[in-house]
Amino acid sequence: MQEVPFHFNASKNLEILSKTAFLTTHYGDKTNVMVTAWGALGVMWKLPVFVAMVRQSRYSYSLIEKTREFTVTFPYTDMSKTAEICGRLSGKNIDKMSLAGLTTRPAHKILTPVLDVSGMHLECSVIYARPMSADKLDSAIQELWYDRQRNDYHVFFVSQILDSYIIP
Ligand SMILES: Cc1cc2nc3c(=O)[nH]c(=O)nc-3n(C[C@H](O)[C@H](O)[C@H](O)COP(=O)(O)O)c2cc1C
Repeated sequence: MQEVPFHFNASKNLEILSKTAFLTTHYGDKTNVMVTAWGALGVMWKLPVFVAMVRQSRYSYSLIEKTREFTVTFPYTDMSKTAEICGRLSGKNIDKMSLAGLTTRPAHKILTPVLDVSGMHLECSVIYARPMSADKLDSAIQELWYDRQRNDYHVFFVSQILDSYIIP
């Protein structure tokens, strides 16, 4: 494991994110993983941040609401099989960890573990959470991605990156 700055390999990691990254949550004895392809890496309030976008219907959303933390994995190995499970099935009803054969390592700064896979990992603690306001949204994006009736907009979880490292 190699400690690296949060912006290390940023270009590579954002390229990976745009296809498939993983967001891990943990509450009680339950660990859950979902696929994420939308998010932002940057600086806010002089802090390194990752902004996760999670729809309120996700089981992951309910866990982040409880713990205000999560980890992010930018995989450096092919995880397409894992993504099929974690990006389509909900942890509400099943244990995706065992179904996908995933194992974890304890994180350093938070209780949520990181996936024990090759890649870069972020330990994130939520410092601001904001649901999207439909009335402030660009109409083309509204049309493309959201159904007003379902009201399943994303919540932006602005999270301080407390630690970042690479598992080879
Ligand atoms: C490529 C891809 C990217 C995704 N990105 C997001 C995302 O950024 N935010 C989100 O809320 N859901 C996203 N999803 C959907 C969730 O991964 C999916 O609904 C998952 O089953 C949620 O699991 P959960 O209910 O256990 O949290 C994505 C799915 C795929 C396949």
